[in-house]
Amino acid sequence: MRHYDDVLVLGIESTAHTFGVGIASSKGLILSNINSTYVPSKGGIHPREAAEHHSKVASQVVLKALEVAHVNLEELDGIAVALGPGLGPCLRVGATLARALSLMLNKPLIPVNHAVAHIEIGRLDTGFKDPLVVYVSGGNTLIAAFNEGRYRVFGETLDIALGNCIDVFARKVGLGFPGVPEVEGKALSWKEFVKLPYTVKGQDISCSGLLTAALRKVNEGRRLEDICFSLLETAYCMLVEVTERALVHTSKREVLLTGGVARSKLLSEKLKLMAKEHGAKFKAVRAEYAGDNGAMIAYTGALALKHGIMIKVKDGGIRPRWRIEEVEVPWRREE
Ligand code: ATP
Ligand code: FE2
Repeated sequence: MRHYDDVLVLGIESTAHTFGVGIASSKGLILSNINSTYVPSKGGIHPREAAEHHSKVASQVVLKALEVAHVNLEELDGIAVALGPGLGPCLRVGATLARALSLMLNKPLIPVNHAVAHIEIGRLDTGFKDPLVVYVSGGNTLIAAFNEGRYRVFGETLDIALGNCIDVFARKVGLGFPGVPEVEGKALSWKEFVKLPYTVKGQDISCSGLLTAALRKVNEGRRLEDICFSLLETAYCMLVEVTERALVHTSKREVLLTGGVARSKLLSEKLKLMAKEHGAKFKAVRAEYAGDNGAMIAYTGALALKHGIMIKVKDGGIRPRWRIEEVEVPWRREE
């Protein structure tokens, strides 16, 4: 049942390899969450090929999301879209579609920051109110917490994302995609830990030297299982170290793991242990909301719309480098 002051929003996600559409209310009711992920036949993600995939599936994903939600377009209060950060050609598909729907239906267009959406769906799904957030995916590695109207960054990667580091390693050594579960599977039969570059600089981590070194060790003939284990241990411990400092610094009582790599039991265990030592609670977002999805854009868009956030269609261009600290989150102020 919808409440009179609730708003219902359709949200479009197309920042990287997933095209998704969700329908959600500002009270946190997720009515549908339909996602289609482009998997390249070989090599990494090619932005233009992914964008082509998104264009192909877009209309059927929208229709399916409406059908599953039992909602028709006229019942919506607004159209939300992830304008960034992300890959230009991919973002353009979602943005074009959102602008067209907004114009056609004469409904507000709501800009959503993809990173903020990962946090909001994580808060909704776990029930955490004010967590320290660890957002880890193929494209992002971010430690963030709410402070004075915005999500502030308390640590990030200086080069490639943690998920990307493991995905590229997996691909280069002949393991499949997604790389993280593949590498975690292999690592189960480890025998010996191999020292790899552990790079923490202040509150930031660096993963590219780690990737290069891990690949070199495999080429030198070290056991793949040992390198998989050592790579994960090194990368995850670097992340836990900076998260721990951020936790002490911010004095938050909850630690939330979100983003594609939130499906990792191994990383969850490590963060949980660390949080426990500081008397903080730990939760990871559930798998269906961990990877990129339309529902998180719809829900965050609904929160934004309720607080009057909307833009003119002519201002609905993509924002490939949109940083999380630039985004105001007025819905957190009233808490
Ligand atoms: P973003 O745009 O937020 O950077 P993304 O494009 O990387 O996201 P996601 O679906 O959020 O997409 O995350 C993909 C990452 O999740 C990859 O690094 C992949 O290896 C990892 N992943 C996928 N499945 C699992 C799993 N079962 N366990 C752990 N990690 C996983
Ligand atoms: Fe994402």
